[in-house]
Amino acid sequence: MRNGLVNLAVIGVGAMGSAHARDIFELPNTNLVAVCDLISERAEYLAKKYQCKAFTDYQNLINLCDIDAVIISVPHYDHTPISIDCFSKGIHVLTEKPIAVHVADAKKMIGAYQTALRTYPNLKFGIMFQQRTYGFWKKVKSLLNENELGKIIRATWIITDWYRTQNYYDNGNWRATWRGEGGGVLLNQSPHNLDLFQWFFGMPNRVTGFVNFGKYHAIEVEDEVTAVFEYENGFIGHFITSTAESPGTNRLEIVGELGKLVVENEKLTFWRNRYSMLEDIITSNMPYTFVENWKIDVPFTHHGKPGHDILIENFANSILQNEPLIVPGEQGINQIHLGNSIMLSGFLGKPVNLPIDADLYAQKLEERIRNSKFLKTTHIKSPQNLVNSFDKP
Ligand SMILES: NC(=O)c1ccc[n+]([C@@H]2O[C@H](COP(=O)([O-])OP(=O)(O)OC[C@H]3O[C@@H](n4cnc5c(N)ncnc54)[C@H](O)[C@@H]3O)[C@@H](O)[C@H]2O)c1
Repeated sequence: MRNGLVNLAVIGVGAMGSAHARDIFELPNTNLVAVCDLISERAEYLAKKYQCKAFTDYQNLINLCDIDAVIISVPHYDHTPISIDCFSKGIHVLTEKPIAVHVADAKKMIGAYQTALRTYPNLKFGIMFQQRTYGFWKKVKSLLNENELGKIIRATWIITDWYRTQNYYDNGNWRATWRGEGGGVLLNQSPHNLDLFQWFFGMPNRVTGFVNFGKYHAIEVEDEVTAVFEYENGFIGHFITSTAESPGTNRLEIVGELGKLVVENEKLTFWRNRYSMLEDIITSNMPYTFVENWKIDVPFTHHGKPGHDILIENFANSILQNEPLIVPGEQGINQIHLGNSIMLSGFLGKPVNLPIDADLYAQKLEERIRNSKFLKTTHIKSPQNLVNSFDKP
């Protein structure tokens, strides 16, 4: 740390990492010291633009460069080895989502972080779930925390507005392959929603997944998924996601005994019951009735930005002033646990209980990698086009 700034490097400066480099360059509490990418032109282009150092090997970066912290924005498999190597050197890590490809790797990262904390007690580990800063999601969380809906009986999230074309999948040779990415919509697009789901409702104890692989795209991983989450207290969750629907939907409907909360198109609507629906079911002497309710447009304030910069600034402040992390890295394991459980259920063709057998999941994935016959052409974008290519969180 110099002059009250955190010296940061970005490892992986493709679509997402190049936007992180720009944010670090512009934020008041960070100093962009270096960028690193296997593709040297990408690193060199940004190094020139932001007057920082360029590396092609992250080992050289972390061994030779004077940095406090890194943001890891390489394809998911490499989140694990890079973060473990950084922790062992006392380098703070903000990793991109998902934390890892599978639960076994996520456990290794968390174990390495906990070990490193013994030597570096102020070491920070964050994860880029920037949607947790969105005003409407924060309001949902506070309404749930304050028990405004009473006992929750169902939540259904239709999140199909992650539309992607074949052109998108062909833009990087790692995308949508078992070997390069390790999964599809559950691992790349929907982690934000799975993270929010567990943030709102906690973890289920049984998951059933209906998973379709390459149903609409020439890819080997999943592009359409329906999952059912069963919770110990009877609460039922549904999670429907796809990269093959346009127009897509992003609608979260939460039903509690005291009303129904719907989040759609960044709008929160609450049908608030005057009395408990669960009590009314038992006590009403009317056969066909409804619970009297009021329709409320719930107010909230939202920054309206993609929000990555907010998590980077918070990460830097946690290093500088011990500000609590908005999303501690260890919390990333719940999202990957949910995603893996849906996939495992799809692989096995039956419901699975949580916690899942992490080694079994890793083994099933390994089988798919071994048997993959998937070959495709890669069209890598020029470095100049990368920053502009990022338009959606
Ligand atoms: N939080 C978000 O909203 C968000 C949005 C997009 C992507 N992401 C995440 O960011 C990560 C990267 O996605 P992307 O879309 O930017 O991919 P990308 O393919 O555009 O960029 C990845 C870059 O990493 C480089 N790279 C790969 N392995 C490397 C290594 N070992 N060392 C150094 N560089 C390496 C590649 O050359 C490439 O330039 C993924 O994990 C993805 O899930 C997050």
